[in-house]
Amino acid sequence: MRVYLVGYMASGKSKTGRTLADDLDYDFLDLDEMFEERYHVSIPDFFHKYGEENFRPIERQLLHSTSGFDNTVIATGGGTPCFFDNMDFILHHGISVYLYWKAAILAKRLNQVRKKRPVIGEMKGRELEYYVQKHLEDREKFYLKADFFMDMEKDELTSLVYRIKNQAFGLNLSF
Ligand code: S3P
Repeated sequence: MRVYLVGYMASGKSKTGRTLADDLDYDFLDLDEMFEERYHVSIPDFFHKYGEENFRPIERQLLHSTSGFDNTVIATGGGTPCFFDNMDFILHHGISVYLYWKAAILAKRLNQVRKKRPVIGEMKGRELEYYVQKHLEDREKFYLKADFFMDMEKDELTSLVYRIKNQAFGLNLSF
């Protein structure tokens, strides 16, 4: 069984994923880290040299390779579910969770880690907030297809763990 975490940049997919993996006694896999380790290049450098259009097909291939992993929590990249048929793949190959934050909060969180995110480049302040608002609107139609919705401001991880266990183990599902 696999659990895919989806959500915007800086929504805490990696941090939440690690904790969730511990709680479920699963392994943890970060798709961005997988990319960087496999190709020996940071994602910002890759974007800079080869562009997003060359990143997305590789990201898709890596996503597809996760079907070989069992008992694993997988943190996807913020754009992963929004390209090709990736969200359908996610829905067919595991349980998925959307980590939701309001756009204004995401913009604040992103302000601190701008350099690692080539998609937002040098934007900051009001410009960044406006961009995140629009971009999140475009992307949410994919994120909202996830099996579970976690409001990161309100929901406890323990209740997500409970819901996942109920769905996966209660119904004795295996993917
Ligand atoms: C991206 C998000 C990043 C990374 C790449 C593109 C995006 O992952 O995959 O920079 O398009 O939202 P995080 O969501 O982990 O920042």
